[in-house]
Amino acid sequence: MLLGQPNLRPKYMRWSMYRYLFSHIVSISAIVALAACSGTEIPSSTPMPTIQTAPAVDAAIEPSSMPGKEPIEGSDLYSANCQVCHGDSNGAGGRGGAPIHNDRGHTWHHPDARLRGWVLNGKLGFGSAGMPALGDKLTEPEVDAILTFIKSWWTTEQRDSQADISERYQDALDKQKKR
Ligand code: HEC
Repeated sequence: MLLGQPNLRPKYMRWSMYRYLFSHIVSISAIVALAACSGTEIPSSTPMPTIQTAPAVDAAIEPSSMPGKEPIEGSDLYSANCQVCHGDSNGAGGRGGAPIHNDRGHTWHHPDARLRGWVLNGKLGFGSAGMPALGDKLTEPEVDAILTFIKSWWTTEQRDSQADISERYQDALDKQKKR
């Protein structure tokens, strides 16, 4: 639409509505396409953003079925990279003002995208040295494996709530990208 041109469309025909519908059609067709492709090799030229998360899912479900690849163990990665500051599943042994990650902490208040981003890119500290950026040490699937491990310390309610927050936050991010 040209700038300055009056919007003569009735409210129910706004572009935002088309965008909303379109975004759903896109995600539904992505799921359909994925289902159709499962089991067959997907040509690398096919644009499929969901493919990025595939290694983490594979590793979580069938670690031993990936020849030549060590299964990603969230618990090992946590004790090697996080525990020294954040403490163990009981919140014991941490230092430097790093918050505990268990059900008594507040990690479960935050959506996955933010948790992942803080681990990869760091987070400024409030009265602490802050969270170091670990993006050059850990891959995204490794970070997700660590987060899955941390989630096993939460209550079912906390896990459900955090999954819900994650989904809505991701929806908002996706909509923002399409703008
Ligand atoms: C050198 C110490 C240190 C290490 C190692 C470290 N962190 Fe942190 N982390 C911190 C500090 C300090 C903060 C608090 C920053 C602030 O004040 O907001 C923090 C904050 C966080 C937060 C945001 C607060 C929360 O709980 O929601 C997450 C998530 C997090 N760290 C995850 C991790 C994970 C996962 C690892 C291992 C891969 C890790 N950290 C390794 C020191 C560390």
